[in-house]
Amino acid sequence: MQIKRNKFYIGDIKIEDIIQKYGSPLYIYDQKVIEEKFNNLKDKIEYPFLKIHYAVKANSNTHLLKLLRSLGSNVEVVSEGLARLSLKAGFKPSQIIYTCNGAEKEELDFIMGKKIQPNLDSVNQVEYWGKKNPGSKIGIRLNLNMGSGHHEHTTTGGSESKFGIHISEIKNIKRIVKKYNLIINGLQQHIGSGIPDPKTFEKAAHALLKISYQFEDLEYIDLGGGLDIPYRPKDKEVDIKGLSNVIDDLMSSLSKMRGKDLNLIIEPGRYLVAQSGVLIAKVTDIKTHSGNTFVSINTGMNHLIRSAMYSSYHELVNISKPKDRSRKVNLVGNVCESSDVFAKNRSIRNPQVDDLVAILDAGAYGYSMSSLYNGRPKPAEILVSKDKVKLIRERTPLDDILESF
Ligand code: LLP
Repeated sequence: MQIKRNKFYIGDIKIEDIIQKYGSPLYIYDQKVIEEKFNNLKDKIEYPFLKIHYAVKANSNTHLLKLLRSLGSNVEVVSEGLARLSLKAGFKPSQIIYTCNGAEKEELDFIMGKKIQPNLDSVNQVEYWGKKNPGSKIGIRLNLNMGSGHHEHTTTGGSESKFGIHISEIKNIKRIVKKYNLIINGLQQHIGSGIPDPKTFEKAAHALLKISYQFEDLEYIDLGGGLDIPYRPKDKEVDIKGLSNVIDDLMSSLSKMRGKDLNLIIEPGRYLVAQSGVLIAKVTDIKTHSGNTFVSINTGMNHLIRSAMYSSYHELVNISKPKDRSRKVNLVGNVCESSDVFAKNRSIRNPQVDDLVAILDAGAYGYSMSSLYNGRPKPAEILVSKDKVKLIRERTPLDDILESF
């Protein structure tokens, strides 16, 4: 989003014009940002056998999946549904990697049937896979007792975590692998999402590579996702180049030791799509009491749950009042929940009823976590590329909601 002559634009298009045509609330994505982020990762990570598997759960709109595919991305999925969407978007099974905790047998059957590479998450999954598909290649997801994330809810490793095969189970896994002649061709570790310090990511990579010496048939090392983005104005972009140097050294020495080039997989979700997306909403009401001002907008935790769920920070911009003085307000949603708050005591330029407010960095875990809670339609989604505006998902028709109750 940029400002030109006091008006806010995405690509070459004035946001107010998009809202005029498609209404609000509305998710708008800037194609250029996704292209830049993908190319930045691809260009800065120098290890030559890098494979980027976009984590589809971050935003599963098939138009964005097609865009990422055209840029050279592969995908990581956590369900049959996301696998099917990826296939629909044109990914080949060989470009998909699957991980899921607590997966149902039927889902594993589907993944097996499509010949999608799994990173299995438990002893039971390996046993089931081996029984059904002896002699096949599997990856495994490990929990090496390391976890990190922007919130405890997004930390996915350590003794309190349900994810992955715990380090204490490796012996057991090897026994099952032998029993069914399975081949462990990949090791995966995803320690969490929104990792605040890239050094933690490096430490986790070291730990995974250290344990990889216990596995002889590896074809890939998968470091998962977790790269953060600067949500607050004072936050810095992750130093991908710095991270790349460490990973490059680790992977190159591993490949040299083994006398073969191992693939390096990463599974970024947030990093690729978060900054491309804004959620635009309209101010519907303002209340002032007890020294507080509550500015209500026509969206809420039903459309973007991150602030309610993790107290996540999103920059807020009153795009109707680029020049007015700021005042401190609470920006709240229109859902019947006290946690439906986007910001408390935040400076926003003089919000008035009917103004349009942009909630920034909403491209990841925004629409994909939205719901029909409170009987309100999900917003439409728009993709902007320079001077082109494309409706990539309709607003949920109210009839759909009425039928689902
Ligand atoms: N790989 C696996 C196995 C994952 O579970 C995830 C995210 C990713 C990759 C991608 O992680 P990312 O690069 O996006 O950090 N709803 C939360 C984030 C939950 C992430 C779940 N797993 C949020 O809004 O912050």
